[in-house]
Amino acid sequence: MGEDDGALLAISDLHVRHADNRAIVEALRPESPRDWLLVAGDVGDTVAQVEWALGLLADRFARVVWAPGNHELWTSPADPVQLRGVARYEHLVDLCRRLGVLTPEDPYPVWRGPGGPALVAPLFLLYDHSWRPDGLDTPEAALAEAYRTGVVCTDEFLLQPDPYPSRAAWCADRVATTAARLAARDPALPTVLVNHFPLVREPTRILRYPIFAQWCGTEATADWHRRFAAAAVVYGHLHIPRTTWYDGVRFEEVSVGYPREWRKRSVRPGGPRRILPAPERTPPTAW
Ligand SMILES: [Fe+2]
Ligand SMILES: [Fe+2]
Repeated sequence: MGEDDGALLAISDLHVRHADNRAIVEALRPESPRDWLLVAGDVGDTVAQVEWALGLLADRFARVVWAPGNHELWTSPADPVQLRGVARYEHLVDLCRRLGVLTPEDPYPVWRGPGGPALVAPLFLLYDHSWRPDGLDTPEAALAEAYRTGVVCTDEFLLQPDPYPSRAAWCADRVATTAARLAARDPALPTVLVNHFPLVREPTRILRYPIFAQWCGTEATADWHRRFAAAAVVYGHLHIPRTTWYDGVRFEEVSVGYPREWRKRSVRPGGPRRILPAPERTPPTAW
């Protein structure tokens, strides 16, 4: 181990409600004591699950950076913590601070290890039903079609937007404040943008149910990878782990997903994905 080792690593969708996924988290260890781990949301469904997983990882990695997924924001009947919406998010941010985990509410840290320097920006942006199939011109029409076909995200029942009137309104506010923050960053550094949801729509084109894309992101971030000089974009949520490129920018979907999903893949989930230093050759579909 030398001064030059260490890597910026990423993983998401740990879903530790499942025992087989808890075993994956228990086996997650850095290769170097300088490794950072980006955790791009959907750690668990309850505050206690999030605390268990992030606490364990924060003890092992030099730095852990978290961006919330939709599951952490569920006010699940199974959770004794019944906080809703913004209050729930702020409760999770406080928890992360106790654990020493960085959140979208903290100053963006700079990765200065191999492949750096790069500004690491965990984002919390949500979605706004703007990714709709052709012919469905409004969020209401897209939602109605989802109900008609029975493809409705559980967020409709468990992810409360309080005090915002809707998740789309919460999303619009997060997009506006986050864009202003990113615009005010030091432009000399490239960024690594970490968001639970993909920033561009293209990765959702291969969803089995295209109507589901309305719960996967927002058109408002379509140019953020260019506008904010991203060296890489990290996301999850789709449970379709892969590496793709848009406008020359590397997008890494780093999800573990549910056991019933990863058991079917040719590559079992194990270690996290390396973001920096950039892999010399990116396998197109090995994930
Ligand atoms: Fe997930
Ligand atoms: Fe998700």
